[in-house]
Amino acid sequence: MSEQTLSNLSREERRFEPPADLAANANVTEEAYARADEDREAFWAAAADRLDWGQRWDQVLDWSNPPFAKWFVGGTLNAAVNCVDRHVDAGNGDKVALHWVGEPDDDTRDITYSQLKDEVSRAANALTELGVQKGDRVAIYMPMIPEVVVAMLACARLGAPHTVVFGGFSADALASRITDCEAHVVITSDGGYRRGAASALKPAVDEAVEKTGDLVRNVLVVRRTGQDVDWHEGRDVWWHDAVDNASPDHEAEMHDSEHPLYVMYTSGTTGKPKGILHTTGGYLTGTSFTHWEVFDLKPETDVYWCTADVGWVTGHSYMVYGPLANGATQVMYEGTPEKGRWWQIVQDYKVTIFYTAPTAIRTFMKQGREIPDGYDMSSLRLLGSVGEPINPEAYVWYREVIGGDRCPVVDTWWQTETGQIMISPLPGVTAGKPGSAMKALPGVVADVVDDEARSVGNGNGGYLVLKEPWPAMLRTLWGDDQRFKDTYWSRWEGLYFAGDGAKLDEDGDVWLLGRVDDVMNVSGHRLSTTEIESALVSHPKVAEAAVVGAADETTGQAVCAFVILRESAGDGGPDIVEELRKHVQKEIGAIAKPRQIMVVPELPKTRSGKIMRRLLKDVAEHREVGDVTTLADSTVMDLIKDKEGSAP
Ligand code: WTA
Repeated sequence: MSEQTLSNLSREERRFEPPADLAANANVTEEAYARADEDREAFWAAAADRLDWGQRWDQVLDWSNPPFAKWFVGGTLNAAVNCVDRHVDAGNGDKVALHWVGEPDDDTRDITYSQLKDEVSRAANALTELGVQKGDRVAIYMPMIPEVVVAMLACARLGAPHTVVFGGFSADALASRITDCEAHVVITSDGGYRRGAASALKPAVDEAVEKTGDLVRNVLVVRRTGQDVDWHEGRDVWWHDAVDNASPDHEAEMHDSEHPLYVMYTSGTTGKPKGILHTTGGYLTGTSFTHWEVFDLKPETDVYWCTADVGWVTGHSYMVYGPLANGATQVMYEGTPEKGRWWQIVQDYKVTIFYTAPTAIRTFMKQGREIPDGYDMSSLRLLGSVGEPINPEAYVWYREVIGGDRCPVVDTWWQTETGQIMISPLPGVTAGKPGSAMKALPGVVADVVDDEARSVGNGNGGYLVLKEPWPAMLRTLWGDDQRFKDTYWSRWEGLYFAGDGAKLDEDGDVWLLGRVDDVMNVSGHRLSTTEIESALVSHPKVAEAAVVGAADETTGQAVCAFVILRESAGDGGPDIVEELRKHVQKEIGAIAKPRQIMVVPELPKTRSGKIMRRLLKDVAEHREVGDVTTLADSTVMDLIKDKEGSAP
């Protein structure tokens, strides 16, 4: 975002006060900020007390060895018991946990907390039968079907950290994650439904398992579409054989508060994805509390729906762990946003709280308000946004068209690493400003600083940092403590650097400005420029590649690549662009496929050989190219622009 847009943005004058009835009955009120400031640890301890513990903790926070935090030291709990069993024990077994909506129109299932408890227990027994023990890692590669929730909770129950890999990732990406966390078991399905058709998942698993040598012992397969699958006798096991026949009784062990709950891989600034490690007590405290706080959840009456895929952190924190720990009733939808289908679901299930990403909102805006206007969405009372900055126009459209001008919008800033929402309005307290994520939540200490780590103060921009540990923070990168320190804690002593630029407006409210590193945000998904560059360079015809995220009206950013071909490849042939796009899809997945690839004779580099992506971004965004004086050869940009002029 340019300085120009930035100052325009924070001159946004519209304000939306919280609805009076919501404010009067809000779960969290203004006093929480002061209470947390006074004693942060006591504040989080009270949040942890909302959970069921086997053994209560002796110490709230151990920060004696920063940046390695321990929360609720000495406490024990079981995440699955907190998400499922305790609601049944409290007499809410008949309450619907999941209103699952399959992609084929008439395919729906309601699953109560009792049913979920039985399923999770069965799956835990089945996994035990397959040799999964506490501490073992289990990879999960599944569509949005109830079994994926069951699988995650069964792992949590056993204390076997799961690593869920988004179903849109390629076999290669899956293989590298299985290898990195040494998973011996993979849970998948034959396929899933996408845009009305069955698409296969199992072949990618077969290919990935093949690539990982003899690491994977078993593949547990849910039959979802019924399509043909290759079967590896002795390795592959049908879910309906193993799980359906297992006992629904399972004695859950209480795990240490710091026992690993899961690893989620996310793109960083280098080619190798980072395995973000979350542990049990702090993570469950942070996610369940913020879910109750920010969405003002009333578990008895609300119907909550988070549209995120379970393959991303939002699906983990705000579809699985947070809402289920709170005993929420929620919608889970197998498909992707299609014209009226989402609004039909809101109408049918009387959804009250809805959480989605700006990219979806912008898509719906483009399609026109006639579509949502055709549905009764009067049940909605609160709307949330996550994944990227929401432009004021999209915010106002969301509020007016989807929220009938009565629902507050909570723009929630957080990351895979933070585990929980960090910056957001409180719906019963904050007068919302379209485009601003507003303030750090109670108990969270954030700031915007300059290069020397000095607070920039109101009215200025800089880098977003977190100054104090929080319960759901990542504990390390899987198997790489040094990289954890280097990535997040090395820029300034004692500060967690999030990688985002931000500005404080005159009131001190936070405006997020996007990444300041080589991470792109495409449709709310994080992609690494380096990772895509590596994928391109791994193609035999490519000598060098540079990737930038260019502004895109719908997806926020789009992947634009500049490549230099090897001499032996000549001009690459007529289909070179398509060939390279497909190659990236194969290496990483369809989400990483460049929107645009330009074959160029040179790349702009500084004298020390660093590619100046800023200049390429100017080209990709059709702007006047900026300052070229630090280039080793300042004529390079002319060559590239000439190419652009002749591009098809
Ligand atoms: C961006 C997703 C502005 C940000 C939960 C962050 C946002 C990255 C917002 C994390 C928001 C997320 N406003 N930017 N409300 N929410 N981001 O790890 O750049 O997939 O660093 O976690 O998304 O993406 P991740």
